[in-house]
Amino acid sequence: MSTAVRSFAKINIGLKIGPRREDGFHELRTLYQTIALHDLIKIGVARGTGIEIHCNDSRVPRDESNTCWRVAEKVLQTLRIRSKVRITIEKNLPVQGGLGAASSNAVATMLGMERSLKRQLPPEERLRIASEVGSDLPLFLIGGTVLGIGRGEQVYPVDDLPSFHCVIAAPDVGVSTPAAFAAWDKLQAGPSKLTGKRPSDKINTFSQSVYAWLNGSSFSPTGVPSKGWDRAEALLLDLVRTGMENDFESVVFPLYPAVRQVKRWLEREGAKYVSLSGSGSSVYGLFASRQDAAQAAKALNQADIRAQATSTLPRTKYWKDIFPARTARR
Ligand code: C5P
Repeated sequence: MSTAVRSFAKINIGLKIGPRREDGFHELRTLYQTIALHDLIKIGVARGTGIEIHCNDSRVPRDESNTCWRVAEKVLQTLRIRSKVRITIEKNLPVQGGLGAASSNAVATMLGMERSLKRQLPPEERLRIASEVGSDLPLFLIGGTVLGIGRGEQVYPVDDLPSFHCVIAAPDVGVSTPAAFAAWDKLQAGPSKLTGKRPSDKINTFSQSVYAWLNGSSFSPTGVPSKGWDRAEALLLDLVRTGMENDFESVVFPLYPAVRQVKRWLEREGAKYVSLSGSGSSVYGLFASRQDAAQAAKALNQADIRAQATSTLPRTKYWKDIFPARTARR
């Protein structure tokens, strides 16, 4: 029997790229937020050895370059278990879309294997495996609203934001994250370095922005409610005011003008806040109501831009929904 796991996607609300470190990675600051869109991972274990990957999308690798494979191998090693592992990925999320799909698939594989093998990894081993495989995996061990620092792999749960209505638009291009970082380095080496601001200065402003944003609305002297949609609306307004941005936009938009166009579409359709997610190519818009989001998604689809209306996923709901309820056998 196989274990099914929902592999939810994430968006980045603000992303600041800092200096390139000696290990080649870039220091970053970001606020990750899980969303309700997901792939479905099915894990089957049997006697024997070997890892098999099956996927309905031919762009997904089926060998050891797949993050699910790498996690599966490490889980077996850590638990000191021999087993045949069959991983089936039902892909709905965009590939190379900046929604953390491959990372989330890998964490779902870890959770599914634990359940199928009836063994649990200690929390620190889960985190070690996740951060060894990629910078974007650990956030999926927390879910909800998560602060990411270091190369993105050091994660801290923060108070969950209220659920926002959103539209995820996926332009028809895939962006390679290493290529986007390389383009960023090139940009930094150009004339803009004359502005005198060091990357380490700029990165420090991010935490101030996040602090100002998360605290601004709830402590407002006008007495904005601390709960419910009114708070969500106040936070949306403040997010725009705080001016939190994703640094990748400055390299991805010039390389892929179609992605910038999608941002414009979402703005025109009434989104309160629009941003590239991760290194793209997905762009999300936050909306004031479910109807506004649904209408915007419809308009984008009519213009041949793949878009889906959904909502952000707070931590409790993330963990409640991660294992789909088993349907009763007849
Ligand atoms: O950690 P992950 O496998 O997602 O990183 C993929 C690549 O993206 C790295 O090899 C590196 O080139 C780049 N990267 C980076 N700085 C980060 C995260 C990733 O330069 N903080």
